[in-house]
Amino acid sequence: MNDKLQKIREEAERRIAESRNNESLDEIKVEFLGKKGELTQMLKSMKDLSPEERPKVGQMVNEVRAHLEEEMAAKRAAIKKELLTARLQRETIDVTLPGTKTIRGHKHPNQIALEDLERVFIGMGYEIVDGPEVEYDRYNFELLNIPENHPAKDEQDTFYITKDILLRTQTSSVQARIMEKGDLPIKILSPGRVFRSDEVDATHSPSFHQVEGLVVGKYVTMADLKGTLDQFATNFFGPKTKTKLRPHHFPFTEPSAEVDVTCFKCGGKGCGVCKGSGWIEILGCGMVHPHVLEMCGIDPDVYSGFAFGIGLERITLLKYEIDDMRLLYENDIRFLEQF
Ligand code: DAH
Repeated sequence: MNDKLQKIREEAERRIAESRNNESLDEIKVEFLGKKGELTQMLKSMKDLSPEERPKVGQMVNEVRAHLEEEMAAKRAAIKKELLTARLQRETIDVTLPGTKTIRGHKHPNQIALEDLERVFIGMGYEIVDGPEVEYDRYNFELLNIPENHPAKDEQDTFYITKDILLRTQTSSVQARIMEKGDLPIKILSPGRVFRSDEVDATHSPSFHQVEGLVVGKYVTMADLKGTLDQFATNFFGPKTKTKLRPHHFPFTEPSAEVDVTCFKCGGKGCGVCKGSGWIEILGCGMVHPHVLEMCGIDPDVYSGFAFGIGLERITLLKYEIDDMRLLYENDIRFLEQF
C-alpha cells in the first residue's frame, strides 16, 4: 500500500513539475484527485484493509492529497508569473520610435471670409442672428413682396417640403422674421445657408451661403446704406476700394441696387479678374419696401430701413482669387491650407 501511494505521489509530482500551463494542471487534478482519480480509488479500496490499518492509510492518502494540492497551487502561481513576464517582454514600448502625427484641420476660406466680414459689421454695432434653413413660404417669399405666382418665385425655384414649407432660397427670410418681432430699432447681420434648384458648375451650386444685413429705425436713409457698404468694402477688400450702386430691382426693396466694388486686383483699370471692366459685383441691396414694413407690422411713415444680401462664396472667391466655386466644397485639405 505504502509503495503504491509513494509511486502515485512521485508520478503526480513529476507531472506537475513538467506542466507548462493551467490546462495540463487541470488534467492532472482530475487524474489524481478527481472522483475517479487514483487517490480516490485508493480510499475506496480501503474497505479491504484491516480496521487497524484503515485510519493510518486514510491519513497517508490525505497527506499526499494535501501535498499535491499545494504543489499544484504553487505551480499555478509560477505559471502565472511566467506568463506575465513573457507578456511584459512582448509588450515593451520603444519610446524612441517617432509618434503618429495628428493632422490638424484648417479653417475653411468661407469661414475665414465670414469672420472677417462679421468683424467689420460687429464694429458698426450689428448683432449676428440666426434663422432657419427650412422655412415657411411666408417668410421666404410672401412677406418679402413675392406673392403666389410672382415671377421671382420661378427664378428662385427650390426644394419644397410641403406647399408652404421649403428650403429657403435667400437669407432675406430672416428680415421678415426679425421685423415681425417688432423690436425696434433693428441692426442685424444674418449669415447662413440657402438653397436653389441650380446645377453645379464653376459659379453655381444648389446650396451656398448668403449674409443678410438689415437696419430699421427712424431717419434711416440711402446715404446710410452707401456709407455702410463703403465701410465694409474698404475693410474687407482694402482701403482703396470704391463702391458703386447700380439701379436694379428686388421685390422687397425700393429703390433697389446692385453694388460693384473696384477690382482689388487692378484697382479699376481693367484686368482678367474683373473681365476688363474695373468693377466687380458683390451684393444686392436697397431701402426696405414700405409695403414689406407694413406687412411686418412696422409703420412706414415713421420708420425706414435698408437691407443688403451678400453672396458669401462670391466674395470669398474674389478675395482669395479662386476661379472655381466647386473647390470650396471638396474640402481637400491641400486646397484649404492655402488660406
Ligand atoms: N436676397 C437677394 C438674392 O438672393 C439679395 C438681396 C437683394 C438681399 C436686396 C437684400 C436686398 O436684403 O435688400 O438675390
